[in-house]
Amino acid sequence: MINIVLYKPDIPQNTAAILRLSACLNLKIHIIEPCGFNLEDTRFRRVAMDYIKLSQIVRYSDFKSFIEKNSRSRIILMTTKSKKIYHQFKFKKNDFLLFGRESAGVPDEMHKKIKDRLKVNLSGKARSLNVAMTVAIVASEALKQNNFFK
Ligand SMILES: C[S@@+](CC[C@H](N)C(=O)[O-])C[C@H]1O[C@@H](n2cnc3c(N)ncnc32)[C@H](O)[C@@H]1O
Repeated sequence: MINIVLYKPDIPQNTAAILRLSACLNLKIHIIEPCGFNLEDTRFRRVAMDYIKLSQIVRYSDFKSFIEKNSRSRIILMTTKSKKIYHQFKFKKNDFLLFGRESAGVPDEMHKKIKDRLKVNLSGKARSLNVAMTVAIVASEALKQNNFFK
């Protein structure tokens, strides 16, 4: 199963869209808190609809506890600061794809700790994609490469 990791997500609508995607494509979601909104909030749960119940979600209080619990897994950071392009990378079936927060990405020390860092090439002067769009693009490639689409 492909794993999607959200680092301190800020925007409830993005997280809700990613939860819906995860329920539809059988992705496991890992959320590193604190989030910029309350995951228990009824308004968030309304946006996420019944997909929240169909999703597999694991929550962590911080990055340290996420790393401790997944120390044997391969973690791949998605960042605009990488030189490597995602579709030239060979994904494995239990990879963890880590996405930064909407307002600030991930801290520099996380960049240094994570060896595999990838980007989606953008045209012109565009700075970055919406995080939910990035999850959809990269998860699709990882699923396709590992024959999850039958
Ligand atoms: C809106 S972006 C964050 C922008 C933030 N200002 C920054 O400097 O990182 C949110 C997350 O989406 C992912 N992302 C967005 N565009 C991307 C791209 N072109 N390549 C790789 N990841 C991208 C990254 O994980 C990023 O941390």
